[in-house]
Amino acid sequence: MEEQRQQRLRAQGITKKFGAVTAIENISVTFYSHEITGIVGDNGAGKSTFVKIICGVEQPSRGELYFEGKPVRFRSARDARRAGIEAVHQDLGLIESMSVARNFFLGMEPRKGLLLDVPRMRSETRRRLYELGLRNLKSVDQDVGRLSGGERQAISIGRAVAFEKKVLILDEPTSALSVRETAKVFDYMRGARQQGLAVLAIMHSMRQILDIADRIIVFWHGGLVADLPNQGLTEHLLAECIHSGVPPSQIHL
Ligand SMILES: Nc1ncnc2c1ncn2[C@@H]1O[C@H](COP(=O)(O)OP(=O)(O)OP(=O)(O)O)[C@@H](O)[C@H]1O
Ligand SMILES: [Mg+2]
Repeated sequence: MEEQRQQRLRAQGITKKFGAVTAIENISVTFYSHEITGIVGDNGAGKSTFVKIICGVEQPSRGELYFEGKPVRFRSARDARRAGIEAVHQDLGLIESMSVARNFFLGMEPRKGLLLDVPRMRSETRRRLYELGLRNLKSVDQDVGRLSGGERQAISIGRAVAFEKKVLILDEPTSALSVRETAKVFDYMRGARQQGLAVLAIMHSMRQILDIADRIIVFWHGGLVADLPNQGLTEHLLAECIHSGVPPSQIHL
């Protein structure tokens, strides 16, 4: 049965100025549960600025955000996180010298009395990562520093799923990965989608975006020039839109 698609986050007329520079202007877009939205655009188009506003790192100069229909104002990343918006930045925010299980529960550690509930952390981490599709991890006791890039992504994405986040923002989740690892990370993203998260992914590879996204939004010179279902698009059409700012429906080949 098709899951109910719900409105998670809506941006209405978001503008961000840095002094005299307008980084993004009048951006209106809605993100839904059970959907992966690919965010594309050239360098400097405004993608990062936009997601920083969504996840509370920057405040808009103008415009409103609505979370599950209600107006919200995030004053910090912590504010946004508390509401259920998790951003995984390129460095993933993991601690290399700590175990997989400790990293999985970082900041959310279960306790038994005064002590950390280590058995629970280990078994829960193992179960969650397995469910997400990370099937051949040797041990949840090994240090994160020994994991591959794809396995690290699994921990970050798995955390968002386990702690019932509503919106997951990924910044270039596959930029440093092999083809095989990228396929795995796409599986993790699909797992998050299946759990009902709205997944937003900034990506530069047209082929990868067309592979994973349900919907694609295109930034061009600080504006949103296209918001399309991923149907009937080609790498060529998308690249053309990114460079010219002309929506694919108006591009004549
Ligand atoms: N803190 C800042 N101060 C001044 N200008 C900024 C700041 N952050 C971003 N900008 C400007 O805003 C515009 C959009 O930048 P942004 O980083 O959002 O682009 P982007 O689409 O993420 O690019 P990339 O693909 O290179 O990461 C750029 O012109 C950039 O120089
Ligand atoms: Mg950026």
